[in-house]
Amino acid sequence: MEKPKRASWSGSVAFVLAAAASAIGLGNLWRFPYLAARYGGGVFIAVYLALSLTLGFTLLITEIAIGRYSRQSQLTAFRALGHPRWNFLGVLSTIVPLFILPYYNVIGGWVIKYFTAYLKLVAGGGGLENPQGFFDSFITAPWDPFVCMAIFTAVSCAVIVMGVKNGIEKANLVMMPILLLMAVGLAVYVALLPGAGEGIRFYLIPDFSSCDNLGKVILGAMGQMFYSLSLAMGIMITYGSYMRRCDSVPKASVRIVAADTFVAILSGFMIIPVVVMFAAKSGGGRAAIDAGPGLMFVTLPKVFASLGAAGAWVGFLFFVLVLFAAFTSAISMTEACVAAVCDFFHIRRNAAVSAVMLWTVVLGSLSAFGYGRWAVFKPFGLPALDFFDSSMNVLTPIVAALICAFVGWVLHPKRILAECQRDGSAVGFRLFYAVMVKFVAPLLVLAILISEICRIFNIGGWRI
Ligand code: PHE
Repeated sequence: MEKPKRASWSGSVAFVLAAAASAIGLGNLWRFPYLAARYGGGVFIAVYLALSLTLGFTLLITEIAIGRYSRQSQLTAFRALGHPRWNFLGVLSTIVPLFILPYYNVIGGWVIKYFTAYLKLVAGGGGLENPQGFFDSFITAPWDPFVCMAIFTAVSCAVIVMGVKNGIEKANLVMMPILLLMAVGLAVYVALLPGAGEGIRFYLIPDFSSCDNLGKVILGAMGQMFYSLSLAMGIMITYGSYMRRCDSVPKASVRIVAADTFVAILSGFMIIPVVVMFAAKSGGGRAAIDAGPGLMFVTLPKVFASLGAAGAWVGFLFFVLVLFAAFTSAISMTEACVAAVCDFFHIRRNAAVSAVMLWTVVLGSLSAFGYGRWAVFKPFGLPALDFFDSSMNVLTPIVAALICAFVGWVLHPKRILAECQRDGSAVGFRLFYAVMVKFVAPLLVLAILISEICRIFNIGGWRI
């Protein structure tokens, strides 16, 4: 049978947009602001910036170049590079999105629920008077979380069925500009609210006292950067495999890092001032910002309610933004799974999408029902969603460290650098790249791994 021609992006802009759309997700909108608040504002931002431009950039060009060189998704890329013994790395980087996708889609389902709740609110209805009660009764409801997850999964799979150019590219072309516009609009609206200054100062001015341990700040920023840039999940390898040879890998990578970091910092401007203002009004103290996952689904709805008549609209726009961010990230993860199945089994795209969809819904049901009807199922004492999340937080640094070790010591950095020069541009960071990929990246990644294990087993009071 003749091998079908590999899909490709229509150009460099389409590729950057797709990779940025994958990178910009719940991590930027919700996790970055609360980590910044927890780790001394400006200190965290500075560390994050430094790490993204060095480690983030290194890992990003590595993955994209592996994909473009091999023209394969992560599962078969290592064999195509001529190192079949390292194929297990492809298997590991396929396991990561296969296990993250189901619970990411459960959270995507939560976002759909909030989007519809705010839609009702702007249309004059009610239902969100008690945000804590709303959240609790939703996640423990017998069917709601499952149905929302299934809808979220079906929509992202529908985009994937349409293919790389007609599905993913077009969806990003619609969602990303709207997302950016709304994020800038909301940040400006918040900055103009009376009393926003204190929150902005709290966010930007470095507070050295709140970061008692710089090591924790660095590890927190590094873990966040990984997640935020969608690294070690096979996504960038798969997306790189659709990249044209005439486009520049380093230039695209810088743009992806810049876009992702810009939206993360912008989200802080959107969220932190309103939460600080709300905390001052309600006497809740700054602990409100540190509410972790509850920040998005409980604290923010309370904050929106306190904004008066405008609150319903602000909440609605905010959840449209979150919904788009979650969709584009889920689409990239679904694509990484679908591409792996297609490349490995040589089956048609539609069949692969159906298989991935079935897998996602079945495995996702564990997390979707995990707070309600199946709450008794608690692996290692954790709700299913938290269990999958923690295990993946351990697996991703392992995969990233192994990819660096493989490129640094087995494949040789020269191969990646040669791929970076294919479009004819000069590469001025050869030594930097070799040192990063051989020594710095594996060590730093190992540090995240150890801290993650300490956090899970509660050793030494580590909490990132
Ligand atoms: N990078 C995305 C974010 O910042 C998250 C993500 C994780 C996307 C895994 C794809 C895969 O939210």
